Parts: sequence; structure tokens; C-alpha cells
Amino acid sequence: MNKRTNGIIIAIDGPSGAGKSTVARLLADRLGYRQIDTGAMYRAAALLIAQAGIDPGDLSTLESFCQKLDISLVHVDGRQAVIANGSDVTDRIRTPEMSLLTSRISTLKPVRDALLKSQRMMGVGGGVVLEGRDIGTVVFPDAELKFYLSASAEERGRRRCEELSEKGEQVTLVDTIADVVKRDLQDSGRDLAPLRQAEDAIAIDSSHLTVEDVLDKMEHLYKEIIKATGTAL
Ligand code: DC
Repeated sequence: MNKRTNGIIIAIDGPSGAGKSTVARLLADRLGYRQIDTGAMYRAAALLIAQAGIDPGDLSTLESFCQKLDISLVHVDGRQAVIANGSDVTDRIRTPEMSLLTSRISTLKPVRDALLKSQRMMGVGGGVVLEGRDIGTVVFPDAELKFYLSASAEERGRRRCEELSEKGEQVTLVDTIADVVKRDLQDSGRDLAPLRQAEDAIAIDSSHLTVEDVLDKMEHLYKEIIKATGTAL
């Protein structure tokens, strides 16, 4: 039985700084799909946990806190805003400190269980581009189209450094590359839902590709799937 009433599910996984967010947003725009940035959801959860002063080692307190998490992604004036327990946290979740904290709290079962449930509810009807680390392996192993987007650590660090500098953050390239490598290790080395390429994912190395090149490749494969499955565009 086809549960997808709005289109197919497109999963984009890969390490931090590979360009997933930009590509997911623009691909969703091209296809008239909804972008779901699951990393932003983990970041919002990390912020709320830190603000509440919860010790991540206290799993039973963490579990009851996570069951009450209310995190949503809304689109305001063409930009995605992250609303966590009623507050707009879009900008506050993007600092280098929040990136590392998020990578740590995302190893914890109560956090992953809570977010997995809401991500499945948000995406099950299709017509979505979900980006993250475990979309094609855990959240939607049955996604119709899966990509694994990567780039060299140097290139990802360079892009992240540029992005943070534009926002006025005081960062250096060396530190940013070190952060990227540290997060890669945390994200791929954890026990629960580690970052890895799904067997049926299409790998794209974006190190030497423009965003347009990546999008064209993805859109082409999307059209082939739609043609093959007869799903309405
Ligand atoms: O994509 P991002 O850099 O905003 O993600 C922040 C962190 O959240 C990342 O280090 C790992 C975690 N994450 C995860 O564990 N699973 C996901 N599906 C998405 C992100």
C-alpha cells in the first residue's frame, strides 16, 4: 500500500559541511517539495537540554524531558525557521559550540527516539527532502531516492569557515577543519544510527562540483525514478 500521497521521499545524508542544507533547500524548491532539516531538530534539542540544565548522563530525566519536546520547522518569508518549545531558535543553534554539543547529545537514545518519531510523522506522506545522517539508513530506509553527499574535510571546513565568518563569528580555517573532523568522528563512531552510506544510496562527492551541478544530477535521477515508478510529478 502506498502511504505517499504528496510525492516520494528523498533522503540526503552525509558529513557536516558537505552542502546538504543548501542542496536540500534548493532541490525542494525545484520540485515543490518540503525540506526537513533534521540536523536543525537535533540542534534545537541540544539547546533546550542545555538551557534546562539537564545532565545528559541522567537518562531518566532526559527521557521524560525529550518526550515533551516540541520542535517544528516552519517556513517564513522563504526561509526555514526552527521553533523549539514556542521560541524561534533559528540563529542561536548555529554557533560552533552548539555544533559540538549537538553532535554529543545526538548519541543519546532518548533524544534520538523522540526525534525519530517526529521525523517519521513529518515525512511519511512523501513530497519531502530530508537531510541528516541516518535518513536513508534508519528514519526512512524505504525512501525512494537516497543520496550520500560528501566532500573532503578541507573543503567542508573551508565552506563552514566562510559561512561562519559571514555571520560575524571569529573563526579560523584550521580550527574549523579540526571541528569538522571531530564531528565526523563523533557522528560516524557512535553506536546508535551512526553516519554511514546506505547500501542503496547514490554517492556524490561535491568537492569539485558546483551546487547547480549537484542539483542537476539529483533532479535528473528524481525524474528517472518518477518515470520508472509512474508516481505523479
Ligand atoms: O547537519 P547538522 O550539522 O546541522 O547536524 C548537527 C548534528 O546533529 C550532527 O553533528 C549530528 C546530529 N545529527 C544526527 O545525529 N542525525 C541526523 N539525522 C541529523 C543530525
